[in-house]
Amino acid sequence: MHRIGLLGCGNIGEIIAHKREGFIITALYDAVYARAVAMQDVCGAPAYESFDEFLAQDMDIVVEAASVAAVEAHAEAILLAGKDLVTLSVGALTDDQFRNRLKACATQTGKKIYIPSGAIAGLDNLKVCQIAEVSKILLRTTKNPHSLGIETDSPTLLFQGTARDCIRRYPKNINVAVAIELASGHETEVELWADPNTDRNTHELFIEGEFGDITIKVSNRPSPENPATSYLAALSVLSLLRNLDNPIQIGT
Ligand SMILES: NC(=O)c1ccc[n+]([C@@H]2O[C@H](COP(=O)([O-])OP(=O)(O)OC[C@H]3O[C@@H](n4cnc5c(N)ncnc54)[C@H](O)[C@@H]3O)[C@@H](O)[C@H]2O)c1
Repeated sequence: MHRIGLLGCGNIGEIIAHKREGFIITALYDAVYARAVAMQDVCGAPAYESFDEFLAQDMDIVVEAASVAAVEAHAEAILLAGKDLVTLSVGALTDDQFRNRLKACATQTGKKIYIPSGAIAGLDNLKVCQIAEVSKILLRTTKNPHSLGIETDSPTLLFQGTARDCIRRYPKNINVAVAIELASGHETEVELWADPNTDRNTHELFIEGEFGDITIKVSNRPSPENPATSYLAALSVLSLLRNLDNPIQIGT
């Protein structure tokens, strides 16, 4: 059974801790120590105030559900300590140099970096774009203005441009765009809309390639505790962990 260190005890971390099955959580860490402490009763794992102490515990995988900054600060140490990394804050990997450093660390220790599907679907077959001709990849994301921390009375286009620029401006909201870009190996255009008429986080993905067209629409129910986050993202980590050792790997 996998032994998991949980880095980030916020909304997604809490769902993972509550719904854990098929793995054990052995250590908890959060920049806000009280949040890790509050999670001790949920999963029976101890909270650590020091990241180094956390990392020294008995675990084979660190699940990151914290922030882009947490990945930037800790991912190299995690891999060099001989742990696999499951990371939701995939926006950190837009920086080519940083991503290549992480790859080198993982290769050195024989470990892996897993990027779950998160709040989108279809990352499995988007990897065909690495070998096929593609003329367009567009992600249109629509959220309620409150989950973006703004006020507006009508649907408003907040951002139009590349995934890389979008994640710099909205590091908490557009990790899916980076996941799409990494899976497809192609620059991804992004439109980010704030719409007061919706309570869903909706991702519409349009791809045109030599194989035909792909259209994917995922309409996520936001988590009640954190409207910026999708419940689907937490479930995708749980399903990744559940299927890690399955001899039959589907849609990889
Ligand atoms: N890939 C996806 O599809 C997807 C979907 C949803 C959320 N996310 C990302 O997952 C992450 C977690 O989301 P959430 O909704 O649980 O957020 P949250 O704000 O509810 O919880 C994050 C927790 O991590 C802690 N944290 C932040 N920075 C830290 C650091 N440097 N070191 C240690 N702890 C730190 C915070 O104190 C907080 O308790 C976010 O980065 C979010 O953008 C990705």
